[in-house]
Amino acid sequence: MTRASAFDAVTVDTLRERGSLKWTLYGDDSLGAFVAEMDFGTAPPVLEALHAAVDAVDFGYLPPRAAAGLAAACAGWQRDHYGWAVDPDRVRPLADVLNGFEIAVRHFSRPGSPVILPTPAYMPFLSLPAALDRTVIEVPMARDNGRHVLDLDAIDAAFAAGGHLLVLCNPHNPLGRVHTAEELTALSEVVARHGGRVFADEIHAPLTYPGHRHIPYASLSPTTAGHTVTATSASKAWNLPGLKCAQLIISNDADAATVERLGPYTFNGAASLGVAANTAAYTAGGPWLAEVVAYLDGNRRALADLLAEHLPEVRWTAPEGTYLAWLDLRPLGLGDHPARVLRERSGIALVDGPDCGAPGLGHARLNFATPRPILRRIVAGIAEAARRGPA
Ligand SMILES: Cc1ncc(COP(=O)(O)O)c(C=O)c1O
Repeated sequence: MTRASAFDAVTVDTLRERGSLKWTLYGDDSLGAFVAEMDFGTAPPVLEALHAAVDAVDFGYLPPRAAAGLAAACAGWQRDHYGWAVDPDRVRPLADVLNGFEIAVRHFSRPGSPVILPTPAYMPFLSLPAALDRTVIEVPMARDNGRHVLDLDAIDAAFAAGGHLLVLCNPHNPLGRVHTAEELTALSEVVARHGGRVFADEIHAPLTYPGHRHIPYASLSPTTAGHTVTATSASKAWNLPGLKCAQLIISNDADAATVERLGPYTFNGAASLGVAANTAAYTAGGPWLAEVVAYLDGNRRALADLLAEHLPEVRWTAPEGTYLAWLDLRPLGLGDHPARVLRERSGIALVDGPDCGAPGLGHARLNFATPRPILRRIVAGIAEAARRGPA
């Protein structure tokens, strides 16, 4: 069986038995297309590394040797895939990317300053700042020739209004944009003009489609290296989010000094098994990832066909990266919170657009990292619910 047909063959029953959040939160009558998990398991070398760790009962605290192995593997991935020369000494283990965001807010932005967030955005970026006593300045993305772009004038105004740390999610969740070098350079000029900082969330970087190239923001120029802290992880591309491991990449001397001052306990959240899995993914997970991205690319096209056939009113732009589709469902008349209506009517579980910020009214985020037969059921379920008329 080819890998693609093996992915096709994964059933809802198998996924429920596996027990992840996507397939258990809303019960047996629902189809999960919300949280960013993939339904394809993970790469064989990752499983081997995990089995080896379990067989060795390797459950102690993370030894420096393993942290160094993770740093070298992460730096190697950045070098080989994006041409970014990362110093492994400047890669720190994290529990997850959100832990990196919290560190960036606490230690790399002006105390008390608002966080600047292009929206729609990954949902926790809207809510987490409040827990850190920070406000958020939402900057809705603009449109240029049908595609979403950063609104540089509005970002400029947000810095002028006192914002200091900008969240740059690239590839973008939920819009799927993979920003070009020109876009990133133009952004960096605005940030630099205000002495601002950037939290570059590049967790989806390995998931880019043909014709699009991920460029690590900090790799662009000495200017971007000087104002950026980057967080990444193998957890999206190899589907390991429950194993708790991500990486913070530091790209300038001043931030490296801050990290030294913070000491090891700021960076002690990564789980040993997560470190083993991330290290194996970066060093030996490439071939499996290539097959997954090819399958997801097929799903992206299948989704276009399915929407055209069953829901031609729905507006969307196929993503350039990520396995997330941002759907404008307003023509269906399901109200501001269409995902709530769809879940009630059909059990199809999407992310509700307003959870991603103000531009999300009437929208929903659909996760298409699922076997194609299930994707068909998901779109058919949405269409069937929509046929029942306005909410
Ligand atoms: C853009 C983005 N950032 C961060 C995360 C969360 O990552 P973690 O589980 O490592 O905090 C996600 C998860 O879906 C995401 O899509």
